[in-house]
Amino acid sequence: MAKKIAVLVSGGGTNLQALIDAEKTGMFGESKITLVIASKPGVYALERASQNGIASAVLCRKDYADIAAYSKALTDTLKENGIDLVVLAGFLTIIDEQVYEAYPNAIINIHPALIPSFCGKGYYGLHVHEAALAKGVKVSGATVHFVTPECDAGPIILQKAVEVKQGDTPEALQQRIMEEAEWNILPEAVKLFCEDRLTVKNNIVYIGE
Ligand code: GAR
Repeated sequence: MAKKIAVLVSGGGTNLQALIDAEKTGMFGESKITLVIASKPGVYALERASQNGIASAVLCRKDYADIAAYSKALTDTLKENGIDLVVLAGFLTIIDEQVYEAYPNAIINIHPALIPSFCGKGYYGLHVHEAALAKGVKVSGATVHFVTPECDAGPIILQKAVEVKQGDTPEALQQRIMEEAEWNILPEAVKLFCEDRLTVKNNIVYIGE
């Protein structure tokens, strides 16, 4: 059955762009990105949504009393729009169990490292790559996983390794991981979800034929 996909963003939205491009090639079948939600106004991801005729909304954490009120507004918006799959594509605002419970095994996140390395509280954006370089790892990468209440600990859908090069800056490593991993495995995971090929048992994801 065709799915309605919401993409949640906080920044430039290059992963959103990868999803838009994938949809245009027919990768998601009849499923469509029907809503982009940004955690702040003015981010370039919103521009990408409007350039591609995708409805968007801005939900700012500071407009709500607490995380619970914010999460309720977010859940209501997703439900009102009939959303089936929620993709966190660089979405940096904390949300609570109301959202997770409304979308069990139907929220996916892209993380710019090979989980369980360099993940959890405080590991987002460039901080992840700074930590990888400080440790001197020779391989990093990206992970797409289902979201559960524990930060970055949900069942892993896909991972891709990327070489760390001597002399890399956090920015250079971030860019290589996006190009070689994130922009490929995020659309691939969305495709698998849309084809109903993902099953979760005991926190492990199984990919059906
Ligand atoms: C991406 O690298 C994504 O993996 C990361 O934020 C960036 C967003 O870039 N997400 C996290 O760090 C989540 N913990 P984008 O706006 O260009 O897609």
